[in-house]
Amino acid sequence: MNVGLIYFSGTGNTAWVVQRLAEQLRALGDDVTAFSCEDTPATQLDVAAWDAVGIAFPVHSSFAAPVFRDYLQQLPAADKPLFAITTAGYWAGDTAWYAAQPLTRRGYRLFLCANVLMPNNFFIPKMDVLPVTPPERVPRFLERATRRVTRLAKRIHARERHIQGADIIGRLGGALQRWGYSTFEAKMLARFSADETCTGCGWCAQHCPTQSWELRDGQAHFLDHCIFCMRCYNFCPMQAIQATDKTRRTTKYRRYQGPEGQRYP
Ligand SMILES: Cc1cc2nc3c(=O)[nH]c(=O)nc-3n(C[C@H](O)[C@H](O)[C@H](O)COP(=O)(O)O)c2cc1C
Ligand code: SF4
Ligand code: SF4
Repeated sequence: MNVGLIYFSGTGNTAWVVQRLAEQLRALGDDVTAFSCEDTPATQLDVAAWDAVGIAFPVHSSFAAPVFRDYLQQLPAADKPLFAITTAGYWAGDTAWYAAQPLTRRGYRLFLCANVLMPNNFFIPKMDVLPVTPPERVPRFLERATRRVTRLAKRIHARERHIQGADIIGRLGGALQRWGYSTFEAKMLARFSADETCTGCGWCAQHCPTQSWELRDGQAHFLDHCIFCMRCYNFCPMQAIQATDKTRRTTKYRRYQGPEGQRYP
């Protein structure tokens, strides 16, 4: 089976899962090519040549990040088997199923939706009950995720029907989270900024998937089209990017270091 696996990853978790899933599928005999939506324009994907299409992305409040949603909108209509994988720090609900709906409306046949639990990359004030995963707990997450990906690969290879999360609880919880997110996002947009410890190294501007940073006079300035993938916030070498004044307390609001302790991408 020739599989095209399309993904977005903010801080490396989904990229980590995609890499392992591709390896497992190849071991089962599939021919898999993975495409980051940041590296390959949707118009360059040869969907017609694939036997199955996979999508993978992080859960952002029970939805896919807009940058990935827009990318999926550009895929051509096709009568192809489709699987959708999310990564979430705590709970994914119906996210995979919900994000795949625009594709099913264009002919794709969704046979598998599943989440892989990965370390949480999102920890800001008012979310103190859901802390970022401390580095010492990351290896356990990765071990569990490896086992989960192995099981999922077998199901995908066999095209076994497995729709996780689209039950009544998942759908209701998902709808509630999606409804509440826009207010939260507007507040975040108003507060996100780089503080005076910014050295103007430019990493954020080079790696933001939405070009939301601009360097002016050796300082990073925030623009307003951020999708809160948390890449810059977590990986700025100075921890200069703040969600509010409180996140300057970096021992409390610690930054996620990525699944393998290094910046992504
Ligand atoms: C804006 C935002 C919202 C998030 N919402 C959720 C959520 O609703 N449930 C959850 O379990 N994890 C949530 N997370 C955590 C991420 O889904 C999780 O850490 C994911 O594996 C990150 O993947 P990535 O490294 O590929 O970006 C959220 C993260 C961000 C940045
Ligand atoms: S990555 Fe951090 S230090 Fe570098 S320019 Fe951006 S905000 Fe400044
Ligand atoms: S500004 Fe930072 S959090 Fe927002 S989209 Fe860019 S890298 Fe992601």
